[in-house]
Amino acid sequence: MALVTRWATHGRPTERNAHPHMTAQVSVVHNGIIENFRELRADLEAKGHTFETDTDTEAVVHLITHEMQNGLGPVEAARAALKQLRGAFALGIIFAGQDDLMIAARQGSPLALGHGTGEMYLGSDAIALAPFTDTITYLEEGDWAVMHRSGAEIFDRDGRRVDRPSVKSVASSLLVDKGNHRHFMAKEIHEQPEVIPNTLANYIDMVTARVNFPDLGIDLASINRVTISACGTAYYAGLVAKYWIERIARVPVEIDVASEMRYREAPLPKDGLAVFVSQSGETADTLATLRYCKANGQRIASIVNVRTSTIARESDAVLPTLAGPEIGVASTKAFTCQLSVLACLAVAIGRARGTISAEQEVEIVNGLIELPRHIAALLRNEQTFVAIAQDLSKARDVLYLGRGTSYPLALEGALKLKEISYIHAEGYAAGELKHGPIALIDENVPVIVVAPEDDLFEKTISNMQEVAARGGQIILISDALPEKISCKVAAHILMPKVSSFATPLLYAVPTQLIAYHTAVVMGTDVDQPRNLAKSVTVE
Ligand code: F6R
Repeated sequence: MALVTRWATHGRPTERNAHPHMTAQVSVVHNGIIENFRELRADLEAKGHTFETDTDTEAVVHLITHEMQNGLGPVEAARAALKQLRGAFALGIIFAGQDDLMIAARQGSPLALGHGTGEMYLGSDAIALAPFTDTITYLEEGDWAVMHRSGAEIFDRDGRRVDRPSVKSVASSLLVDKGNHRHFMAKEIHEQPEVIPNTLANYIDMVTARVNFPDLGIDLASINRVTISACGTAYYAGLVAKYWIERIARVPVEIDVASEMRYREAPLPKDGLAVFVSQSGETADTLATLRYCKANGQRIASIVNVRTSTIARESDAVLPTLAGPEIGVASTKAFTCQLSVLACLAVAIGRARGTISAEQEVEIVNGLIELPRHIAALLRNEQTFVAIAQDLSKARDVLYLGRGTSYPLALEGALKLKEISYIHAEGYAAGELKHGPIALIDENVPVIVVAPEDDLFEKTISNMQEVAARGGQIILISDALPEKISCKVAAHILMPKVSSFATPLLYAVPTQLIAYHTAVVMGTDVDQPRNLAKSVTVE
C-alpha cells in the first residue's frame, strides 16, 4: 500500500502544503474540504499541537494523533476523528509502525478501493487506479474502510459492517469509466462535491477565507466594463456572473452568445477585460469572438476545463476549472466549476474596486466553502427526483421560471431537459410570464420554478400564483418552508439553506437531476443525445 504526493487544495500549492500531511504517528491524504478545520485547529493548538502548514488536512492529522495520544488504537482514533469532521471529503490514512493498515473514509467525495494480488489500493476513482488494478470496490456515502494487504473491511457511517460489491472496471482500456453509475452524466453530477472544492481551492485561501485570484495582467480597479461571451451552458454560467459582478463590483457586464457577438461588431471599451467561458476550450464561435476581442485591444481571460485547448493557448490569462474530464454531452460539473471560478472573479473585481468589505468577502467565501457538503446531502436524496421525472416524462412542454441569478438557472434547466429528454422546454425570467408565455399554461404544462428564499422570492411567488390560477403544475425548487408558499404546488424540492450569493451553484444540481432522471425514464441516449457533439468546433 502506498500514499502518493498530492498537491494541496488548501493554501498555496507549495511543497510544504502538499500531501501527505503528517505527524510522527499519522500520515493523511485528503480530497475535499474540512469545513470546521479552523475550529479544530484552534482547539488542537490550545492543547499543544503545532501546525506546520496552511492546510485543512493537517487538522485531521493532529486530531487522529491527539486521539492516539489519549490512548486509542489507530482504527478507533481514526473513527473518533471522523465523527468530528464536517464537510465533503475523502481521506486515506496510514500510521507509523503499521505497515499493513490503511484507513479510507468517504463523505461527499468519491473514493474507490482497488484489489490487487496481496495488495490493496485507494484512489478517487477507477481511472486513478487503472495502472494497478481493474477490480474496484466503490465506497458509498459515509463509508469508511480498514484496509490490509489481504483485503478490506467496510463500515457504514453508524459503524455497521457492510458488504460493497467489487466490480471489474473498464477504466484501463477506455481511460474513463462510469464507476458504479449508469451514465457518465450521473457520475459527473455526483462528482460535484469533489470537483467544486478542487476548483475553488485554486482561487481561495481557505485559511483566511479570502479570494486569492491570479493576476490577470490588468488593473481590475480601473476597468469600466467586463465583456463575457460563451455558448450554451457556458453562456448561462456567464449570465449568472453578470448578476454577481454587477452587484458586488458595481461594474457593468456586457454578455452575449458567441455566435452573435462574433458578427455584430460590438464596440469595445479601451483596455477592457473580456472573459470567455468554455469547457472544451475549442468551441468555434467562442474562439472567433475571443479573436475579435483580442484584435480590439481587450485583455483576454478564459475559463476552460482543458488547459491545453486553443482558447486557453490564445488567452492572456487562463483560469482553469478543475472539473476533470467531462464525457457526457450535457454539461454538468463543468457548469458548477465555471460558476466557482466566476464567483471568485466577481469577488476579486469587487475587492480591487473597493465595493466589497473584507467581512463581506469572508462571508461569501465561507458560503462557497460550505456548498460541497450541501450538494452531497442533496445527492443522497436522489430518489425524490425519480418521482418527479415520471410525471415530467409525460409532458410535451415544460417551462422553467426564475428571477435574478435563478433566471439563468431556469434557462440552463430548460436546456438540460430538452437536450437529453427531447421534451420541449423553455426558460423565462419569471417577470416575463405575463408578457407572453402565460398563454401556454394549462394543466398539461409543468412549470419548474427556481426560487431560493431571497429578496426576489415574494415576486416569484406571485408569478407562481398566476401559474396555479391557470391550472399549471408547479414543481418548486426552494429553501422556503411549505408554510411560506402561499400557492398550490405539485412538488416541492426542499433545498438546504445556503448563502444567497452561492445559491446558483446549489440550485443547478436539482435541475441536472430532473433532466437526467426524466431522460432515463424516457429511455433516451443520456450521454450522447441525438444531433449533439461534445465539442462544437464548427460554427
Ligand atoms: C449543454 C452543453 C453545451 C455547451 C456548449 C459550449 O449541456 O454542454 O451547451 O455548453 O456547446 O461548449 P464549451 O463549454 O465546450 O465551449
